[in-house]
Amino acid sequence: MRLLSVRLIISLIVGITVVSLGFSYYQVVAERRALRGDLERRAEVLGESLAGNVEKTLGTGSNQALQRLVQRFGNREHLIGVAIYDRQAQVVAMTPELGKVLTASPQALTQAIRDDHEESTFVKFGSTRILVFALPLHHDDELTGGLVIVHDADYIQAQMLRVWRETFFRVLAQVFLIVLITLLIVRWSISGPIARAAQWMRAMRTGRISSSQKMPDLDMFRPLAREVATMAESLNLARNAAENEARLREAGASMWTADRLSVHIQARLAGSRLFVVSNREPYIHQRNGKSLDVVVPPSGLVTALEPVLNACDGTWIAHGSGDADMEAVDAKDRLRVPPDDPRYTLRRVWLSKREEEGYYYGFANEGLWPLCHIAHTRPIFRASDWQLYQEVNRKFTDAVLEEIEDTPSPVVLVQDYHFALLPRLIKEKRPDARVAIFWHIPWPNPEAFGICPWQRQLVDGLLGADLIGFHVQSHCNNFLQTVDRVVESRVDWEHFSVLRQDHRTMVRPFPISVDLTDDEPGEGQTTGFTYAERTSLMRSLGTEATFLGIGVDRVDYTKGILERFLAIERFLEKYPTYQGKFSFIQIGAPSRTHIKRYHDLLAEVDAEADRINWRFQSDKWKPIVYLKRQHSHNEIAPYYRAADLCMVTSLHDGMNLVAKEFLAARRDERGVLILSQFTGAARELRDALLVNPYDIDQSAEAIRVALEMEPEDKQLRAHRMRRTIKENNIYRWAGNLITSLCEVRLDVVENSKEKLSASATTA
Ligand code: F6P
Repeated sequence: MRLLSVRLIISLIVGITVVSLGFSYYQVVAERRALRGDLERRAEVLGESLAGNVEKTLGTGSNQALQRLVQRFGNREHLIGVAIYDRQAQVVAMTPELGKVLTASPQALTQAIRDDHEESTFVKFGSTRILVFALPLHHDDELTGGLVIVHDADYIQAQMLRVWRETFFRVLAQVFLIVLITLLIVRWSISGPIARAAQWMRAMRTGRISSSQKMPDLDMFRPLAREVATMAESLNLARNAAENEARLREAGASMWTADRLSVHIQARLAGSRLFVVSNREPYIHQRNGKSLDVVVPPSGLVTALEPVLNACDGTWIAHGSGDADMEAVDAKDRLRVPPDDPRYTLRRVWLSKREEEGYYYGFANEGLWPLCHIAHTRPIFRASDWQLYQEVNRKFTDAVLEEIEDTPSPVVLVQDYHFALLPRLIKEKRPDARVAIFWHIPWPNPEAFGICPWQRQLVDGLLGADLIGFHVQSHCNNFLQTVDRVVESRVDWEHFSVLRQDHRTMVRPFPISVDLTDDEPGEGQTTGFTYAERTSLMRSLGTEATFLGIGVDRVDYTKGILERFLAIERFLEKYPTYQGKFSFIQIGAPSRTHIKRYHDLLAEVDAEADRINWRFQSDKWKPIVYLKRQHSHNEIAPYYRAADLCMVTSLHDGMNLVAKEFLAARRDERGVLILSQFTGAARELRDALLVNPYDIDQSAEAIRVALEMEPEDKQLRAHRMRRTIKENNIYRWAGNLITSLCEVRLDVVENSKEKLSASATTA
């Protein structure tokens, strides 16, 4: 910057000086010309007015008269003198001062007499510059001599010197002012903002501030700075990812992140695209007066799949169940989501009330749900529901075929028990598609599954897939045993696959998880809840307690909420010192309330919480705070962080992500997890206090153990479980699922190609 300033100053000085001198020179030349012309004119006028008198007097021959005449004109401004010469250029009369200057007759006179024409020249006599003006004199048209008028022209030179002096000072002042102003402009508008921008960028580069922080006043460099900020942000992300990778490599682990999944999926898809099908959509639009509300449903599936779709910009095909869903889609029933930061496409499929009733409430949730969850609620199978289940599966197949139409070898991930028939229906039309179905709920033993009147069709539909995923190995085993009993096929127990009608289906466990990748506390996030924060949270719920428990569920009979309440009651009965000290917050999102069993359960949970509260509560304390509405992730987070323990007491559960979400939220590694042994999560989270939820006393005891556990023990357990979740996070789940699916050999395609060419040859 200093070099730039020096160069700038020198350029300005040279530039301004050259321009000013050029102008001044032109001005001086013009002024000298004007002054000379003026003097010549004066000499001419004087000469002409003298000439008449001189000619007359010269004719008389009186030299004295001539001398008087010249002396009369002798004292005019700048006039040195006047002289009269005869025809031979001899002086006839001359003013005395002129005699000191003109020692001989001037050349101009000789020339004027010779040419008979007036003549003027500027000449130098010694140090004096003079103007000699000569004109011929006549008498009766005859040349009789010459008149010479001499002016002092030195004042012209003085005038010129004055102009040059003024020019010098003007140039000096101009250069000084312009250089000063330029330097101030450079400092204020260029070097100042550049220095601030550089300082800001350095702070960003070194990670002392983030690019989201307000930019300093960077004047005209703001657009440039914005670009640099974006670049710095990307560099920071890349650096964080690289550091993460390096850290993990160092630790001997290979952690899955959103970025890694994104790169992995792009590589695996090799130019193809990912399509996900589920009944539940990730965003539901609901009308609220004049505005549209967007709601995220309380679904473990949605929690798990959202980060996957965000990572690879695929298409999610789901039932548009919101009352304002149609208002939010384009002509092809699509919209970009998440609404605040669109990253993938949601394609909505519309169902009539009748279809929803039969397929979703009826066959899926009154039939398959209790069939697969052994929770002692009797499955109901109606032929009409089965009919609609098939129709809706066909409807979704059409939507999928439409979406994948232009994609060669698409990768389709079908989700859950709502779409058992979809894999075969898709593969029949698009054998080049790689289709996997992930079954989010348990698969019971063959005897239990056997009560379903359409078990053969369901199993056959599933076997259309290239890959079938369950949360745990025992569900895979149950499924393979069911296949063995129900359909004509060859089960390969060594490779966990099924060969049926020339098509091989792999069956694998993929334990689903949550997004736990960053272990450092984020900006503004404390690691734990302070005592004051916890007290105020509880007061806001109308209770005061020293210890806090949390449960978060859809109100579903498989979740063991009533058993949990009974365990809390038993705990307070058995350990009365905890009365007035332990409160349990139950967040219960009403779910499938259209089904009588669920509707009744809502009332039962309400009544049970009331009964227990009535039995124990005091003025300021109640044992159970039942929050009966759906809460967003952000609303639930403070409860997770404030709680001493979390209870997951499902009577049967595929995985249960609440258990993992609770641990993911506990960066302080303090919360204790009480976990039903009948959840898929119990296979991984061995440091939880595992309970049989039917054993009320055991669960009550687990509450006491959790509350009295030594802090070191709590931390060790939480630490180990968080490490497990971090290593087996949702990105690994998706990465493994997609890798396995992409490794499948599409035998059907090979075979059908062969068959096609064979039939062509025969024809
Ligand atoms: O957790 C099992 C599951 O079936 C999910 O797949 C599903 O999203 C969730 O239960 C909630 O069910 P629903 O979508 O019927 O409300």
